[in-house]
Amino acid sequence: MILKKIKKNRLEFDNRIVVSPMCQYSSDDGSPSAWHYKHLGALVCSGASMVVLESTAVSFEGRISKKDLCLYNEKHFKELKKLIKYLKSLKNIPVCIQLNHAGRKGSSYVPWIKKNFPLPKNKGWTTISSSNIKKDNLWPRPKIADKNDIKKIINDFSNSAKFAIKAGVDAIELHMAHGYLIHQFLSPISNNRIDEYGGSSQKRLNLALKITKKVKKLCKSKIILGARITGEDHVNNGLGLGDAINLSKKLEKHGVNYICVSSGGIKTKTKMRKNPRLQRLKISKEIKKKTRSILIGATGNMGNITKLNNSILKKEIDFAFIGRPFLRNSNWLIEYFSKIGKKILVPNQYSRSFLK
Ligand SMILES: Cc1cc2nc3c(=O)[nH]c(=O)nc-3n(C[C@H](O)[C@H](O)[C@H](O)COP(=O)(O)O)c2cc1C
Repeated sequence: MILKKIKKNRLEFDNRIVVSPMCQYSSDDGSPSAWHYKHLGALVCSGASMVVLESTAVSFEGRISKKDLCLYNEKHFKELKKLIKYLKSLKNIPVCIQLNHAGRKGSSYVPWIKKNFPLPKNKGWTTISSSNIKKDNLWPRPKIADKNDIKKIINDFSNSAKFAIKAGVDAIELHMAHGYLIHQFLSPISNNRIDEYGGSSQKRLNLALKITKKVKKLCKSKIILGARITGEDHVNNGLGLGDAINLSKKLEKHGVNYICVSSGGIKTKTKMRKNPRLQRLKISKEIKKKTRSILIGATGNMGNITKLNNSILKKEIDFAFIGRPFLRNSNWLIEYFSKIGKKILVPNQYSRSFLK
């Protein structure tokens, strides 16, 4: 099953496995570094049908950390273009970029220096959010985004999308999950506004939909548009299945081609299980039933091929976004392909070590 191609309009995936976006916190002033060439070079040759570049900040204040990949100036654009040209020269598979604004989760340490922890005031920047609710006790109070800030946020996503398309990406994924800014507008846990961007579940969708509309206009039918969404917040009174279905239906209407179901992240501590695979598949299946043509993916411990084949057969998902297995061994999928005799997917240069 995972080897079955997907072809829908412009969207074409050679198999059902996509490399999930994974922050490397290794940029040089926002641009890709030598590490990105090494890391992503291996991943485009991994047998996956698409590689999603890590969360990329749409503005200075939208960064998670000082080492984020960014796409808000000419230098970032030129360096991204170089990287994509290099990746395409290795293997011409779709390359996607995940665009993100961290909101109140920004201005934080690189995780291997201090995990999930904000920078001190004199070393970071003022973060912005839907409301002035802190992420957690130890985190600073964000500034409430006013109308001008919201206009800028929408324009920042649009400008980054323009740069990304000019740089040669095949797909753009909007990050609407993991407690970042769009999620901070979507969730009642972080959004207590009473204007057109909050106060009801419909109004909380407005920022996400305005960004989607603007970016879709740039993508037209040429560039694949995806969104990573939250299936549930795993906290009392947080977002749940109904919200995920509602958002997915709206995204489908706005021309989004795929969604990837993730969950959690709106607060540091939630009730999310250590392995949320089954919860996310259950949500994906419901979303799939309630939408028509949008492709549904899910992420989180999806790397068992037998189970994955089963999930696709059971119509829980169309494809899977896989992260850590690729970091542990970028050839794990090729090893699988070679075991089942799919020679075509093994790079010629490596064939002597994989094929008998
Ligand atoms: C090192 C690392 C960095 C990550 N960075 C991102 C990111 O930039 N954007 C995102 O949406 N998810 C990010 N994630 C989550 C992964 O994309 C993926 O959803 C998660 O690891 C679950 O999938 P897995 O069990 O296959 O690893 C990251 C995960 C890891 C391990």
